[in-house]
Amino acid sequence: MKDRLQEIKSKALAQIETAEGLETLNEVRDAILGKKGELTAVLRGMKDVAPEDRPLVGQWVNEARDAIEAKMADKLKLLESQALKLRYETEKIDVTMPEVTRKKGNLHPVTQVRNQLIDIFASMGFEVVETKEIENDYYNFTALNTPADHPARDMQDTFYLSEDFLLATQTSAAQIHTMEKKNPPIKMVAAPGRVFRSDDDATHSPMFHQMEGLVVDKGITLCDLKGMLDELVKKLFGKDTTTRLRPSYFPFTEPSVEVDVSCFQCKGAGCKLCKGTGWIEVLGAGVVNNKVLEGCGVDTKEYSGFAFGVGLERIAMLKYGINNIKMLFESDVRVLSQIDDEM
Ligand code: DAH
Repeated sequence: MKDRLQEIKSKALAQIETAEGLETLNEVRDAILGKKGELTAVLRGMKDVAPEDRPLVGQWVNEARDAIEAKMADKLKLLESQALKLRYETEKIDVTMPEVTRKKGNLHPVTQVRNQLIDIFASMGFEVVETKEIENDYYNFTALNTPADHPARDMQDTFYLSEDFLLATQTSAAQIHTMEKKNPPIKMVAAPGRVFRSDDDATHSPMFHQMEGLVVDKGITLCDLKGMLDELVKKLFGKDTTTRLRPSYFPFTEPSVEVDVSCFQCKGAGCKLCKGTGWIEVLGAGVVNNKVLEGCGVDTKEYSGFAFGVGLERIAMLKYGINNIKMLFESDVRVLSQIDDEM
């Protein structure tokens, strides 16, 4: 019996010694200590051993098992540490390696200006609505107090799709759509706003983006417009910027104004940007003409409003020193990548 146990033990120890992986080690364990293992078989055979010999044989069996288990545990540790070492080597990260840089893109300057304006207007409590690129004659002109024979139509001589439908020449139709859907108080900006006109030179393009604004409430006057604009230009161009209003004409506002900002480059001293005047024209605005409000069913005895329309390319050109509007549409990454002004 002793020899048999010695034989099992030395075979097991040799097998454990040479096992190259966890799998082989498990196989050895099963073959020796498992249910059908050799040592287990010896233990089962204990009943046939004479009772007086049992303690001694039991001791031998235990010794053999302990030796095998100890060897097994050592080997397991060794194999695990080898596996870990291998992982460390294969998954090694060299933190001193130069990073793989990926070129970061930026938003188009017009999109940046749009986002900035939306942020500013939203902070003043304006709701943002959408505009349409195709309008019919009524929304684009007639409802804006510009009937078919009105000379103001000539300025926006444009792209008709049919007798009645045309590519929107201005975002002002959004005023009418909004008032048809909603009763005052109204405080909205119409997000751009692609508009189309037969206009083409260094500062004009047949397609450009506008943002329209409309406020209708009790007691709204030109002062409210001026106050709102002053706040707007400070946030957009810097806190020293102010505005001035010049009389103008739009069929849908009365009175109508052109809004100038104090030149944010020379602070009013006169420079190339402001053509020596200290002021730069940025947008059109006015007090909403009663005819427009009444056409939309707004009671003008109770309510009044102001409106404005701003060209986004114009703001982008001023803010980023772009002197030709075409640069904004040529998609030249060398130009566009220079302008990254996300607030
Ligand atoms: N729609 C005008 C244009 O395209 C801009 C404008 C002027 C809009 C005055 C307005 C406004 O809402 O009140 O030239």
